[in-house]
Amino acid sequence: MNSHPVIVQLMLLGSMLMAASQPLLSCPSSCGDIVVPFPFGTTRGCSLDESFFITCNKSYNTPKPFLNFDKIEVIDISIDGHMRIAASVVSDCYEKSGSQINGSISKLTLSKFHISSTRNKFTAVGCDTNALVEGSEEWNQMSAGCVSWCDYIDRVVNGSCSGIGCCQTSIPKGVKDFFIGVQSFQNHSRVKTFNPCSYAFVVEAEAFKFSSLDLKDLQKRKTVPVLLDWSIGNVTCLVAQKNLSSYACRAMQSECSDSSNGLGYNCKCLTGYEGNPYLDDGCRDINECESKPCQGTCENLQGSYLCFCPEGFEGDGKKDGTDCRPKGRAKTSIFLYIASVLFVPAVGSFWIFWRSKKKKVVKLRRELYIQNGGLIFENMLWKREPPKVFTAEDLINATDNYDVSRFLYIDKHNEPVYRGSLSDEDEVNRHDTHCWFTEFFTDKTLYDFIHDNASFLPWEIRLKIAEKTARAIMYLHDKMGPIVHGNIKSFNILLDSDYTVKVALPSLDGCMGTIGYLDPEACRLGKLTNKSDVYSFGIVLAELLTGEQLLNSDRPKGEEFLAKYFVSAIKKDRMREILVHRLVEMVNIEQLKKVAMLTERCLRDQPEERPAMFEVVTELQNVVEQLDNGRIVEQLDNVSRGQVSRQWVKNSTMLALVGFLDNG
Ligand SMILES: *[C@@H]1O[C@H](CO)[C@@H](O)[C@H](O)[C@H]1NC(C)=O
Ligand SMILES: *[C@@H]1O[C@H](CO)[C@@H](O)[C@H](O)[C@H]1NC(C)=O
Ligand SMILES: *[C@@H]1O[C@H](CO)[C@@H](O)[C@H](O)[C@H]1NC(C)=O
Ligand SMILES: *[C@@H]1O[C@H](CO)[C@@H](O)[C@H](O)[C@H]1NC(C)=O
Ligand SMILES: *[C@@H]1O[C@H](CO)[C@@H](O)[C@H](O)[C@H]1NC(C)=O
Ligand SMILES: *[C@@H]1O[C@H](CO)[C@@H](O)[C@H](O)[C@H]1NC(C)=O
Repeated sequence: MNSHPVIVQLMLLGSMLMAASQPLLSCPSSCGDIVVPFPFGTTRGCSLDESFFITCNKSYNTPKPFLNFDKIEVIDISIDGHMRIAASVVSDCYEKSGSQINGSISKLTLSKFHISSTRNKFTAVGCDTNALVEGSEEWNQMSAGCVSWCDYIDRVVNGSCSGIGCCQTSIPKGVKDFFIGVQSFQNHSRVKTFNPCSYAFVVEAEAFKFSSLDLKDLQKRKTVPVLLDWSIGNVTCLVAQKNLSSYACRAMQSECSDSSNGLGYNCKCLTGYEGNPYLDDGCRDINECESKPCQGTCENLQGSYLCFCPEGFEGDGKKDGTDCRPKGRAKTSIFLYIASVLFVPAVGSFWIFWRSKKKKVVKLRRELYIQNGGLIFENMLWKREPPKVFTAEDLINATDNYDVSRFLYIDKHNEPVYRGSLSDEDEVNRHDTHCWFTEFFTDKTLYDFIHDNASFLPWEIRLKIAEKTARAIMYLHDKMGPIVHGNIKSFNILLDSDYTVKVALPSLDGCMGTIGYLDPEACRLGKLTNKSDVYSFGIVLAELLTGEQLLNSDRPKGEEFLAKYFVSAIKKDRMREILVHRLVEMVNIEQLKKVAMLTERCLRDQPEERPAMFEVVTELQNVVEQLDNGRIVEQLDNVSRGQVSRQWVKNSTMLALVGFLDNG
């Protein structure tokens, strides 16, 4: 009996691996001169499904590809979701006497793909012309007309389709088929000398530039190119990702976007990668260095690249960026430079600090700044004395490990302020110098990073953030207090461009906690404990794993809050379905499972069933240790560069520090 769940799991894994939606190596990848990329295919079993099947007719000198079983000629197919087909031109011609020679109508019927609404135009050419295009009711009923008229050929303007000799109008979204008819008002009798026929067609706007020569015989064109939008399936990305065995974005470095024209979705390689996202391993790194983007030396990375300035120069080294310039010219840059030196020890560690935007606070900060040695610091800057770099150890020494005797006061926001002194023999500091630190921060919180669709936080960084945050909370619980934070949430976790984590201390003047992050037990009793912080941290973990919003009314009833949604999915063994899809694809499932299980424990209703913060740290640390360190650095580089702008906040860069902890 006990072995059943194991068997079920193995079968699930097996069916995922067997997912057959990949072409065989023997599948031809072109027809004649035309490349036919997967999901398209020219032989049975080589296309994703029937709708992507292309007939390759070999009875021409150069074989030609056709869509819809030999009906529609394909001109080209591009992997970005477009394809060009040849569509016929409708004409209606008259003899000099005014009698009709021949007329034609044109019909185009696509089974699956849509006619691009943005890049095609319905066009009528003629000087006695009334053309009509209609879409069938089945797909998207539409009809549009275009009337083109002129008296003399010299009234016609080349390149202009505003109704004199040529008329153009756009076609709506969601159109899969159309019918074109064309008529004349006066049998071309007035214009027979220069325009015996009327023409009408749907054409890719860029592929047709009207010329007065077209009035004679449309320069003998029988067909014109039409651009189609193709997409996979008839559901959105979100729905498609729920069934990984049928999900078409197979490449690891790919992403999904909903079709902008009709149902379905498209896949594309991530920025910095190129290739076919519909194939396993189809997206390959672009070697950006080949296009010489750097002033200094260039180093290619997975999905990105780095520029280095020569020694003695600074800047991002990019030709289109800040380039390389000699170090430390302007006063401000001295300041920035020194300040960033001060921060060397902070990278990979974290700060617990206090942040608020109120005006009063700015004033208070100024006072603290002076009180805490800011003026000495400024003095030092102007004298260009070398700055002192403080390590975590220095700070602990300076405050006697945050000893009570060093404690100055609790500020209005209930935060302790310590006085620190440096007892070193540094020539600068003969006197008992107070500790001061500069602080910088970005506007970006963990919340911004998780819910930013434009950039994806790699697993390694998610894990590091979780671990560092857990350490910060553990520090509060075990070393500083105990102090209950009471308001852990992704909004309160600030990240700078190096992903240094800072957990903002809450101001306790308002109501405590944030609904949705708050432990149900704490809600009931109105009392916060260490385990309330564990619960809130569990929510942050759930956000990191699922990328989901805290509250979403689209989720099933009773699961609107993330905690309930997450726990319910874990209990129903639906973990894979709720995790960020790309994590499931890219990350060792055991690691995800470990963190998901830990999250579930943090979110237990009974506080005593939740782990203590130090256990959380230990478990996260175990997972972190399994990561490949070389990869972390690379991933950090990938994400941080260029995407986060460091914001220096004038006048409030000096802060009284409440605590500093070495990451160990
Ligand atoms: C290929 O094209 C020729 C000429 O248009 C046509 O007669 C023939 O039926 C086509 N072959 C296939 C296999 O569709
Ligand atoms: C146009 O041609 C049709 C048929 O050829 C004829 O019946 C009609 O009278 C003609 N109209 C004009 C205005 O010439
Ligand atoms: C109609 O007649 C014109 C003039 O004779 C000719 O150029 C054209 O190819 C014909 N079109 C069709 C569809 O038969
Ligand atoms: C339009 O351009 C063609 C050459 O492309 C030229 O022969 C013709 O005279 C031009 N017509 C007008 C009205 O400018
Ligand atoms: C979506 O596709 C499936 C299978 O191809 C089909 O059964 C279903 O009717 C389609 N739904 C819509 C809304 O077109
Ligand atoms: C997922 O897709 C596969 C392949 O298309 C299909 O056989 C399976 O029934 C789907 N599973 C679910 C739960 O829809």
